[in-house]
Amino acid sequence: NNYEYIQTSIEGRIGMIALNRPDVLNALNRTMVVEILSAMESFDQDESIRVIILSGNGRAFAAGADIEEMSADGPIDFELLNQFKNWDRIASIKKPIIAVVQGFALGGGFELALCCDLIFAADDATFGFPEVNLGVMPGAGGTQRLTKLVGKTKAMEWLFTGKRITANEALQFGIINSIFAKEILIEEALKAGGMIASQAPLSIRFIKEAVLKAVDTPLEEGMHFERKNFYLLFSSEDQKEGMRAFIEKRNPDFKGR
Ligand code: HXC
Repeated sequence: NNYEYIQTSIEGRIGMIALNRPDVLNALNRTMVVEILSAMESFDQDESIRVIILSGNGRAFAAGADIEEMSADGPIDFELLNQFKNWDRIASIKKPIIAVVQGFALGGGFELALCCDLIFAADDATFGFPEVNLGVMPGAGGTQRLTKLVGKTKAMEWLFTGKRITANEALQFGIINSIFAKEILIEEALKAGGMIASQAPLSIRFIKEAVLKAVDTPLEEGMHFERKNFYLLFSSEDQKEGMRAFIEKRNPDFKGR
């Protein structure tokens, strides 16, 4: 694939995407966001891929939206570009996405990580929303996703001050899943990804959908949604295979159908 700002590769059943503008700490320009989306959507459609890993080359995961590109824009440009639809599409990828964060994940970079399902971080990972320092605010879900994740109090503090959140703090507040030394981070993400990739893909798919539903639905409606997904899985071949394998005391061979 001919991408300018990202690299893609495949490791077994895992589709890998690496942000690759290390000279500017992987600042996200619009083309890059389109490329990330395009790579994710093609992995999402590819039945041989079960998990997506998103990482950043160099000193950062991503230090935010490209400030230079953005600086001359006005509201009408944003409206006409309708660029946030690409972010919405990233957030609606069906397969599980693991963000692998080393160094900075700031502004749009943090928002991108929050669009993923799991976050594995290096001990040097730093998160934050420095938009206030630029006279703006997050625009790709930062005020919403961070608040739903950590609650109003910490969200306000971090968004008002722009101060950096260390990997340890991020772990403490449930923003990330785990911290690893930089040297073994990607290996650990691949291990976790491989584990998820061995599960029944439709289970993973409907679990992701149901958990995301829980974030913005009242309990009763969410329960209803969960139940329908639960029922639906009983029409899959993998449900038959999974339960048969249990009864026959062997490992299941899931096909994703
Ligand atoms: C464009 C950026 C950039 C960004 C870094 N660079 N972040 N370029 N947009 N967001 C560039 C620098 O200009 C510099 O280019 C090179 O990357 C290395 O960065 P340095 O600043 O020299 O590195 P360092 O001193 O280590 O500082 C790292 C840093 C700092 C603390 C992360 O770069 C920084 O504050 N960056 C901006 C972070 C930020 O405000 N992000 C939020 C953006 S707004 P040169 O050419 O000088 O070497 C946002 C809104 C999202 O994300 C809205 C939704 C899309």
